[in-house]
Amino acid sequence: MAWLVTGAQGCIGSWVVRGLLQRGETVAVFDLDTQPRRLSQILSRDEIAKIQFLAGDIADAPAVRAALERAQARHIIHLAALQVPACQADPLKGARVNVLGTLNVFEAALALGLPRVVYASSCAIAGPAEDYAGERYDSGSHPNPRTHYGVYKLANEGNARVYAETRGLASIGLRPWAVYGIGRDFGLTSDPTKAIKAAVLGRKFEMQFSGQMDMQYVADVAEIFIRSAQINLPGAHVFNLRGEVLRAEEMIAVIERIVPEARGQLSFRGNPVPIVPHFDDAPLRRQIAGLPQTGFEQGVMETVRIFRRLLAENRLPVNELPPA
Ligand SMILES: NC(=O)c1ccc[n+]([C@@H]2O[C@H](COP(=O)([O-])OP(=O)(O)OC[C@H]3O[C@@H](n4cnc5c(N)ncnc54)[C@H](O)[C@@H]3O)[C@@H](O)[C@H]2O)c1
Repeated sequence: MAWLVTGAQGCIGSWVVRGLLQRGETVAVFDLDTQPRRLSQILSRDEIAKIQFLAGDIADAPAVRAALERAQARHIIHLAALQVPACQADPLKGARVNVLGTLNVFEAALALGLPRVVYASSCAIAGPAEDYAGERYDSGSHPNPRTHYGVYKLANEGNARVYAETRGLASIGLRPWAVYGIGRDFGLTSDPTKAIKAAVLGRKFEMQFSGQMDMQYVADVAEIFIRSAQINLPGAHVFNLRGEVLRAEEMIAVIERIVPEARGQLSFRGNPVPIVPHFDDAPLRRQIAGLPQTGFEQGVMETVRIFRRLLAENRLPVNELPPA
C-alpha cells in the first residue's frame, strides 16, 4: 500500500519518508519544492531514488487529487504548510495554502476512498502560558490562537471534524510544539537546531527567544505521524504531542555539555514564544502504545553526530546561520 506525504521536502516530512522507506514502504512526495535538500541529509542516493517525486501546489485541488491517483496511495500524511512568519506576512496566501490546501487533501481522500487522513495541526492553536491554569494545555483547555497560522490550524481541526461527522472520513491531527533535529532550518522555533549547528561549527549564535519550549525530536515526531496513519480509529481525533520542556538557558547547557568547545558561544534574548509550554499527550499515548520520547540530551547527541558527519563530507548547509 503506497503512501503520499505532502510537504515532504520539509523537515518533518523528510523524516517521515525515511521512516517509511526503512519499513520497506512505497512513498510518493508531493511538494512545491523540487530540491531534496533535507532528504539528502538523512537518506542515501539509493534511498532517494526509490521515492516518487510529484511537484505541485497543495492549493491546487486537481493537482492534489492527481498526485494521490498517480501515487496509488492508500495512506496520506499531510504536512505541506506555510509557517507562522509567512502566514503573518501574507494572510491570504497563508489561508490558501494552510486551509484550502488541507481541504483539498480531505476532498481528494474522500473522492478516492482513502480510509483516513493524518495531518499536522500545531500547538499554535493555544495562547500563551498566562491563558492557562498551571501553564498546561490538556483535553479540557480552550484553544486561543494568537497568530493567523494558529487560527488556520484550528480551522483545519474543525473541518476534519465536519468531514468525519457528515462524510464519515476518519482523521488524526497531531499538534507538535518545537521540532528540532536535522532539517529544522527555518522558523522561530528552529533556533535551538541552529544553535546545535553553530556549536558544531564553533560559531557564535544567539537564539531569539527566552522562556520555555517543548522540544520534540524530529525522528520521534515522524514516527508518531506514521504510527497514527496505521491505526484503525474511526472519527476525527486531534492529539497533543509532548517532548521535553526546557528553558533557553537549559538548552544551551545541554548543547555545551555535548559540544564543550561551544562553551560561551551560545546565548539567547527576546520574549518567550507566546504559546503555553506544557501540552498533555496522555490521550495519544493511551491510543498508541510504545511511541518514542527521546530526551533533549539524546536528541542533541544524535543531531550533533549527523551534523559532524555532514561537515566531514563537506555537505553541511550553513546558509540559515548568520555569517561567521
Ligand atoms: N516544525 C515544527 O516545529 C512544527 C510545529 C508544529 C506544527 N508543524 C507543522 O508540521 C508540518 C511540517 O512542518 P515542517 O517543520 O516540516 O515544515 P517545513 O516548512 O520544513 O516544510 C513544509 C513543506 O511544505 C512545502 N510547501 C509549502 N507550501 C506548499 C504548497 N503551496 N504546496 C506544496 N507544498 C508546499 C514546503 O516546500 C516544505 O517542503 C507543517 O504543517 C507545520 O505547520 C511543525
